[in-house]
Amino acid sequence: MATIRLGDVAPNFTADTSQGEINFHEWLGDSWGVLFSHPADYTPVCTTELGTTAKYKDEFDKRNVKVAALSVDGVESHKGWIVDINETQHTTVNFPIIADEDGKVANLYDMIHPNANSKLTVRSLFIIAPDKTVKLIITYPASTGRNFDEILRVIDSLQLTAYQKVATPANWQAGDDCVIVPAVSNEEADKLFPKGYKEVKPYLRMTPQPN
Ligand code: BEZ
Repeated sequence: MATIRLGDVAPNFTADTSQGEINFHEWLGDSWGVLFSHPADYTPVCTTELGTTAKYKDEFDKRNVKVAALSVDGVESHKGWIVDINETQHTTVNFPIIADEDGKVANLYDMIHPNANSKLTVRSLFIIAPDKTVKLIITYPASTGRNFDEILRVIDSLQLTAYQKVATPANWQAGDDCVIVPAVSNEEADKLFPKGYKEVKPYLRMTPQPN
């Protein structure tokens, strides 16, 4: 079992999926990635999560993000369940579901939390940048489905802050004002942020979203 921390390179692996075998890093290519586990196929919350993910394809595509799901079920199970997801969630699953029957990938990413469940993956989610480093890790219990609007919101923040010297405040949504990072002096801020900024406190400077 490995511990993955922010900034680490996402472990690479080869695995069978509902769309054929993938080498994870090669499959990601130059895209951002979301890798997320669910406890098991043919379960209710997971069915809604994977259906929601499929419906958000355009949003992920707009952001140059590839998505892969994972559980410790096999390919045939995934393929059968996809039929149900498509039917019940009124969508078409359009991303690979990794078949991790031996738990190899789950162990690499520490997705099995034995005190929650000794065999099944929890709801882990990793956002991976094009340089393959891990930018976000969240873990939800089996009982709580994830909020995929929040995943898109975080991707927007990560993609903005990767290129601009800003950070995004609490409850920020794309288009809202941002904060200027503390390492930027006021002199530099004058040059970097031509839309101007408001100094609420020397350490709290708000500026319109710069891009
Ligand atoms: C679900 O996806 O609904 C689920 C999976 C495992 C335990 C509880 C709920």
